[in-house]
Amino acid sequence: MKAERHALVEDTLGEIENLPTLPHIVVQLLDKMHEKNPKIEELADLIMTDQVLTTQMISLVNSAFWGLNREVTSIRESVVYLGLRQVENLIYSVSLTNTFEQDAPLLKRVRFWEHSFGVALCSRLIAQRLRYPDEEMAYLAGLLHDIGEVILALYLHPVFKKVVEKVVDEKISFCAAEEAILGFNHTDVGSWLVSRWKLPPGLSAVISHHHNIQEATQDPLLVGMVRMADLICLYHKLDFGIAESESVIPEILSTWQYLGGTFPKLQKIKMKPFLQEFNQQIELVKGMVRAVYTVDV
Ligand SMILES: [Fe+2]
Ligand SMILES: [Fe+2]
Repeated sequence: MKAERHALVEDTLGEIENLPTLPHIVVQLLDKMHEKNPKIEELADLIMTDQVLTTQMISLVNSAFWGLNREVTSIRESVVYLGLRQVENLIYSVSLTNTFEQDAPLLKRVRFWEHSFGVALCSRLIAQRLRYPDEEMAYLAGLLHDIGEVILALYLHPVFKKVVEKVVDEKISFCAAEEAILGFNHTDVGSWLVSRWKLPPGLSAVISHHHNIQEATQDPLLVGMVRMADLICLYHKLDFGIAESESVIPEILSTWQYLGGTFPKLQKIKMKPFLQEFNQQIELVKGMVRAVYTVDV
């Protein structure tokens, strides 16, 4: 099923020449990190060959968004203090915003990244609360869950325009509008892209199922947490500027119920205060993204 849908995406997008690739430095860094015994010093030296990446990483890691309780002043210190997985997520956070730095006519990059960083942060917080064993995977899956949407907006703009019109005119979801116009949706595009970039297969599975969590077979808890984070951000109006008309509350309730069934620890948490905990985080995200782009919205 997934292969068939990826083939459809490939037919439509595979020929586009300027489709983004992961920056070369990021590919080198990820290769180095995934070596059997990565050497911290070599890794830090490699990061520091890229001045822009270095500066942005130091500034992001010291922002309130990242939430450290001490200041980190060098790349070496960050690698030692944060560990490889957090450094990997820092690299993704900085390099992805750089890769997709242009506005699409109907999708402002600031709004898109507010939503994506919001979902990343909320996914990590939910993972912490539920003691899910891989918080960093939750962050990365949240960051990338809608990456297919930005690909459609930037590289299939006339089609994306029709999708937005359909969402607004017919009051339907993005997925439904994309499916009707393209025969596939942004979850297929995102999972196809991360497979093409050779990112971990678990990520592709989360992206594929974030709008149909009941069908997820691989790590359904992670998929459910990312969707919950997605809904929390939509509830707090951290959307990407074109709101779907449906209320998110019924889906928050059903996702909460689904997660509670899969993960009994959730049943001990009261939903309303849990949702309100994120109020503060939303402002952190907005502040951080606006600081990264320093533009008027
Ligand atoms: Fe989505
Ligand atoms: Fe989303």
